[in-house]
Amino acid sequence: MTDTLTIPRPDDWHLHLRDGAMLQGVVAHTAAHFARAIIMPNLVPPVVTGADAAAYRDRIMAAVPASMTFEPLMTLYLTEATEADDVAQAQASGLVKAVKLYPAGATTNSQSGVSNFDNVQGVLERMAEIGLPLCVHGEVTDADIDIFDREAVFIDRVLDPLRKRVPGLRVVMEHVTTADAVAYVQADTGGNLAATITTHHLIINRNHILAGGIRPHYYCLPVAKREKHRLALRSAVCAGDDRFFLGTDSAPHTDAAKLLPCGCAGIFTAPNTMSCLAHVFEEDGALAALEGFASRNGPAFYKLPVNTATMTLTKQSDPVLYPEFIETGAGNVTVFDPGFDLFWRVES
Ligand code: NCD
Ligand code: ZN
Repeated sequence: MTDTLTIPRPDDWHLHLRDGAMLQGVVAHTAAHFARAIIMPNLVPPVVTGADAAAYRDRIMAAVPASMTFEPLMTLYLTEATEADDVAQAQASGLVKAVKLYPAGATTNSQSGVSNFDNVQGVLERMAEIGLPLCVHGEVTDADIDIFDREAVFIDRVLDPLRKRVPGLRVVMEHVTTADAVAYVQADTGGNLAATITTHHLIINRNHILAGGIRPHYYCLPVAKREKHRLALRSAVCAGDDRFFLGTDSAPHTDAAKLLPCGCAGIFTAPNTMSCLAHVFEEDGALAALEGFASRNGPAFYKLPVNTATMTLTKQSDPVLYPEFIETGAGNVTVFDPGFDLFWRVES
């Protein structure tokens, strides 16, 4: 039985750190395990310009405990007013590693997102020229599309036409949740398309949210789908397909904001993600593929070096205990409960 696994230190290619007291409360949970993370720009107001991103990076670095090393990889929130020159400068300076596309209204704090794609064509063309990836929240927002179909419809109606209009654009489909998205990524042979997958979407399906009582802590966007879709995600990552990599989408909201008649979308997985993932990959007989998923495929797509530092995970016979919630200055934040005991512990 394998009971120790050492991998290059992982990175998180999709993370929400928020700001202020929440940032202070959550950043160490990511920095404890991850060397770098792609930082989502959906603050209020959003991180739109290079100057916004530089200021946000400084606030993040100020919140990282002195004993830890962590590199935030900044992103810009694409709006219809985004200027191509500002984006190009932010990339050239090394500050920004991707631009984030939220369709207007798709998710938490996405009201500044894009409605008319004609208005971002110039920026996307410049990004294709300079090789700057576009991270896409892939859901249509039309009221007449069922929420469980929004990702699949987005691929047909928005993403595929967009990629044809901007040849050469490097695209990360974020937090994919469907067999349709897996198939779309796998059908591409051009090398410009990849996808992130969250920890929780490898573990829960929509029954976990809705059967036997409603469970707000399993509600996130894109919402978890049917079991067959979860299994398609598991097959893709456990097969070691290098177009898929970890983006936890760890999205902290206070319990007070989750447990409302209209509660926020987001699952906080930063503390126990690596224990959960080791469990999942081992369960599918694919522990050897965890290294690619968490540590190698992301840097390869982003053309960044693999981390030289390492992480060792050890399997123990007693369950590894994680707190039910963490306390932050903004309020308590519930930690993702995978629904089974975890035995893989992060040593260092
Ligand atoms: C994210 C958030 O809370 O910012 N929520 C979520 O359910 N994933 C937004 C997002 O990534 O969609
Ligand atoms: Zn997210």
